[in-house]
Amino acid sequence: MRINRVSFILFSTFFGLVLAAAAVSAASVPGIPDGCGTRCHKSKVREEFVHGPVGSDDCIACHNPTGLEHPKNRGAFRLPGTGTRLCAVCHESKATKKVVHLPVADGGCLDCHDVHQSPNRMMLKAEGAALCFGCHDKGKFTANHGHSPVTDGSCLSCHDPHESDNRALLRHDKASLCFSCHDKKMAEGVSIHRPVAQGECLSCHSPHGSAWPNIMKGAFPEPFYLPYAQGNFDLCFGCHPKDIAQDRRTDTLTGFRNGDYNLHYLHINKPDKGRSCKTCHDAHAASQPRLIKERIPGFGTWDIPIRYTRTDSGGSCVAGCHKPKSYDRLRQIKNP
Ligand code: HEC
Ligand code: HEC
Ligand code: HEC
Ligand code: HEC
Ligand code: HEC
Ligand code: HEC
Ligand code: HEC
Ligand code: HEC
Ligand code: HEC
Repeated sequence: MRINRVSFILFSTFFGLVLAAAAVSAASVPGIPDGCGTRCHKSKVREEFVHGPVGSDDCIACHNPTGLEHPKNRGAFRLPGTGTRLCAVCHESKATKKVVHLPVADGGCLDCHDVHQSPNRMMLKAEGAALCFGCHDKGKFTANHGHSPVTDGSCLSCHDPHESDNRALLRHDKASLCFSCHDKKMAEGVSIHRPVAQGECLSCHSPHGSAWPNIMKGAFPEPFYLPYAQGNFDLCFGCHPKDIAQDRRTDTLTGFRNGDYNLHYLHINKPDKGRSCKTCHDAHAASQPRLIKERIPGFGTWDIPIRYTRTDSGGSCVAGCHKPKSYDRLRQIKNP
């Protein structure tokens, strides 16, 4: 108490001197000196990003005077409320959409923002992903194969920090989120893979990164040719029967057969130079039926063209890989 009194006297003397020297107008509110931020509390306005009312010295917009003289008394100011109530005096609600970030719903505006000032834009308590990692486990966002906007810390390129009408606070839903950065053309063509047409990019890709290349949700090899092994194509066989790569003969498993000779098996299941699905199929969309690509990388700069024609019971393929060949499910064709 004694110490408080002494410091108070020193303080008010100093304050009085400043007032006298400047000889400015009296405070607009009785008992409250003018120039709170410019004269006394300079430390509240020294960072690069200062909150609007703080910068304009409108301290009493939040620190409402109670009628007691300042700095003579404690309790000369009262905040109009805590949490969202304080901000709602001037800002529109951040909790009007279907999905509201839990700290926002809980009124934790000051979990992320400093109320007076900050070295970070928007008076944020931390910059980029560091803000998010204050509450979310960073470990979940550091995969072997990262997605570059995530590894860059641009969480906000996909998420709104406060609220959204889309699940998971996403700025756009489904494929339109991805197409805000990636070329939409990848999903256009004569044949479009069903999950792609439905905008379900996340049935194959993990948005934050993954253990597999191309932020895949399951194994899918990078090379066009590789020795066959079970598990190589787990991604595809999450939805398609894996036996198309394992049964030499079938009447039912696949349409890609000559009589009952399984041509998927023939191309894929080889001990040395088995083909990957992507030798023939584009996982997204293609200009030929059945997701068959127009060309695949060949040698050097030469691309191998593929021309695929369907018939009622089979098809034919003119490819740079081999002489033209045909297949027919009903009557096995002998290719030369
Ligand atoms: C937008 C509302 C708002 C404005 C405007 C504002 N403050 Fe504050 N102030 C707060 C809140 C909320 C606290 C409670 C502590 C905290 O969370 O930082 C606070 C705390 C304080 C404190 C005590 C704790 C500390 O951080 O030192 C001082 C001193 C202070 N403010 C001074 C000022 C001054 C001086 C101004 C004007 C230049 C100002 N404030 C403008 C909201 C505001
Ligand atoms: C007394 C009115 C007032 C109150 C209360 C208030 N603000 Fe502000 N706020 C402003 C003004 C004015 C601006 C500047 C607007 C501009 O520059 O366009 C602003 C700007 C901001 C900005 C953006 C800064 C920028 O760089 O564009 C954020 C973030 C912010 N306020 C957060 C808050 C939070 C969080 C609270 C509650 C703790 C709050 N405000 C309470 C008046 C207020
Ligand atoms: C989880 C962290 C977080 C919480 C909690 C949070 N904000 Fe923000 N806020 C941000 C971020 C990040 C930005 C910058 C957005 C950007 O750059 O697009 C921002 C921007 C703002 C802005 C300026 C731009 C805009 O969107 O209007 C205002 C005003 C604001 N916040 C007010 C609030 C208020 C009021 C609350 C509490 C109801 C709140 N914030 C809670 C992280 C948060
Ligand atoms: C103050 C703590 C806090 C901070 C900071 C924070 N979050 Fe959250 N966030 C939570 C909590 C709590 C939940 C709800 C529980 C959960 O899902 O973990 C949540 C949930 C989420 C969700 C799921 C929302 C839903 O309804 O599906 C997303 C997305 C999210 N946060 C993104 C972010 C991003 C991006 C940032 C950085 C800009 C961030 N968070 C910063 C606390 C925080
Ligand atoms: C490329 C877009 C994108 C970026 C960048 C991104 N996210 Fe997400 N995030 C998503 C999508 C899409 C979902 C929904 C995932 C789902 O439903 O399977 C999600 C979900 C979440 C969730 C809730 C569910 C979960 O997986 O835990 C949190 C929390 C989250 N993100 C935080 C972050 C943080 C933190 C960052 C930055 C380090 C970030 N996100 C960057 C797209 C993104
Ligand atoms: C904010 C921009 C942005 C958004 C949104 C975005 N991406 Fe990306 N993505 C990138 C960038 C940048 C790269 C790396 C450069 C490149 O290869 O184009 C990348 C790379 C990729 C890769 C290749 C990864 C690798 O290992 O090379 C895949 C696959 C991918 N994104 C899928 C998606 C999916 C699916 C979505 C929607 C959930 C999405 N992206 C949303 C910016 C984005
Ligand atoms: C059925 C699984 C599947 C679905 C669904 C899918 N992808 Fe892919 N995606 C792949 C595969 C497989 C690759 C690797 C292709 C390769 O190696 O040639 C890939 C590669 C990518 C790449 C990086 C290489 C490139 O082609 O640029 C991007 C970006 C990408 N996908 C975006 C998307 C987007 C956006 C969607 C939704 C519209 C989507 N994917 C849906 C399987 C899928
Ligand atoms: C999330 C489930 C899912 C995954 C994963 C998946 N597919 Fe599909 N695929 C489908 C559906 C659904 C259809 C449509 C089935 C139908 O028409 O009977 C389809 C159809 C196809 C077709 C026939 C297209 C047409 O135009 O008739 C091919 C070829 C194909 N998928 C290849 C692949 C390849 C290669 C992979 C792995 C990169 C893969 N799929 C992964 C769901 C999936
Ligand atoms: C040598 C080229 C080639 C390779 C390699 C290939 N496919 Fe196919 N695939 C085809 C052709 C051609 C068709 C169309 C068959 C028809 O309808 O006549 C087809 C059809 C399909 C279909 C539609 C249903 C069916 O079986 O008829 C699926 C699903 C499919 N392929 C998945 C895959 C997967 C998964 C891989 C990799 C494990 C793969 N394909 C590898 C050429 C290939």
